[in-house]
Amino acid sequence: MFFIRRIQILSIAFLVGGRPPPSFTSNPPPPISTSSPTTQLIAVAPNSLFLENIAVRSSGELLLTSVMSPTLLTLNPKTINGTFDAVHTFPNSTGITGITEYQPGVFALVASMLNTTTRRATPGSVVIWKVDFNSATPNVSALGGLPALSGANGLTSLPDLPDILLAADSAEGTVWQLDACSGTARLALSDLSMQPGVPAPGLGINGLHVKGSYLHFTNSVAGTLSRVKLSVSQNGFVVAAGAVEMLAKLQPAGQAPDDFALDGQGRAWVTVHPGAVSLLASGSEGSANASWSQAIVAGNAQGNDTGLIQPTSAAFGRGDSVEAQMLYVTTSAGQVVKVDTRG
Ligand SMILES: *[C@@H]1O[C@H](CO)[C@@H](O)[C@H](O)[C@H]1NC(C)=O
Ligand SMILES: *[C@@H]1O[C@H](CO)[C@@H](O)[C@H](O)[C@H]1NC(C)=O
Ligand SMILES: *[C@@H]1O[C@H](CO)[C@@H](O)[C@H](O)[C@H]1NC(C)=O
Ligand SMILES: *[C@@H]1O[C@H](CO)[C@@H](O)[C@H](O)[C@H]1NC(C)=O
Ligand SMILES: *[C@@H]1O[C@H](CO)[C@@H](O)[C@H](O)[C@H]1NC(C)=O
Ligand SMILES: *[C@@H]1O[C@H](CO)[C@@H](O)[C@H](O)[C@H]1NC(C)=O
Repeated sequence: MFFIRRIQILSIAFLVGGRPPPSFTSNPPPPISTSSPTTQLIAVAPNSLFLENIAVRSSGELLLTSVMSPTLLTLNPKTINGTFDAVHTFPNSTGITGITEYQPGVFALVASMLNTTTRRATPGSVVIWKVDFNSATPNVSALGGLPALSGANGLTSLPDLPDILLAADSAEGTVWQLDACSGTARLALSDLSMQPGVPAPGLGINGLHVKGSYLHFTNSVAGTLSRVKLSVSQNGFVVAAGAVEMLAKLQPAGQAPDDFALDGQGRAWVTVHPGAVSLLASGSEGSANASWSQAIVAGNAQGNDTGLIQPTSAAFGRGDSVEAQMLYVTTSAGQVVKVDTRG
């Protein structure tokens, strides 16, 4: 989820002048039918505040978190250079990572005391909070703590069982489950494919989102997008119902995927450090095993596009059918960039 330093990119050979063409993996790349979408910088947070994660309210307003601030922010994306307004400041925390809407109008987020150098949370400081917009002023309360988490990162819920929240631990390579009703936490998933593989400040599992019965997740250090089928036992425990399948490894090597958004076709729009948004898609429904194609649709692999500096998260707009095809991307330089995915 968050990267403070630039990642050195080793392979730039395939990019020649001007706007890079879509870059495909060499093996086996079913082409994606998309032209380069237009991108628009719609706002920059004051002091280029590091933006970490994004969620979109049904009103279309963006909710934005920062690893550098305990304050949840909101921005109206229809106003160019709109203001970043404070929604709530969370106690006993220095930063916020993942945010997700788990019931209509009700969002959960992960707040903690974060060391942005080690990218680790102070033990015992990770708390999941609820922000309910269904009342005149947002109603905020703590849902529960995740005391074992040291690398708090992405957060999501299960579409069919929305009170089950899943939180990624980038340091331990695990996914924790928190019951939004009882506040009970338990370790749900732990897999090699989620691990950072190197000591701090490496980040393993980062963004995570459920589509159907599959949990999709990125691993930043490994440069991969993977998925694993989930099932929920009778006592409400989330477990893996199969082996983790690696869908794609980002090319060129050296890029690090952060959070992503899944669209209606099951494609993943992945923010990639140092400076790209890549569209990852399966050639045929259900295909896996590193067979997903990839194309850079915004920024570039070497990260010198100043309009997209270390993108961290992406979410589709809400409102009308046009807005639903606008992808809002946050960056660690405080940028909010709109990508028109109609191509
Ligand atoms: C980005 O880097 C590439 C390769 O070094 C170069 O060709 C291109 O002109 C650079 N673009 C910008 C905007 O600096
Ligand atoms: C938004 O702010 C930027 C930076 O201050 C400025 O360059 C740009 O012209 C502004 N855009 C509008 C539409 O006001
Ligand atoms: C903040 O942390 C302190 C010390 O652990 C604790 O006493 C206090 O209740 C916490 N405040 C909130 C609002 O959780
Ligand atoms: C973050 O961790 C580093 C390395 O352990 C340490 O030197 C630094 O003081 C820590 N920063 C804070 C704000 O605790
Ligand atoms: C706010 O949330 C608390 C805790 O969930 C609940 O008891 C209270 O009724 C809520 N208030 C409003 C105005 O919805
Ligand atoms: C994945 O690909 C490798 C190499 O092509 C192949 O040997 C292996 O059987 C494949 N695994 C699955 C589950 O399809």
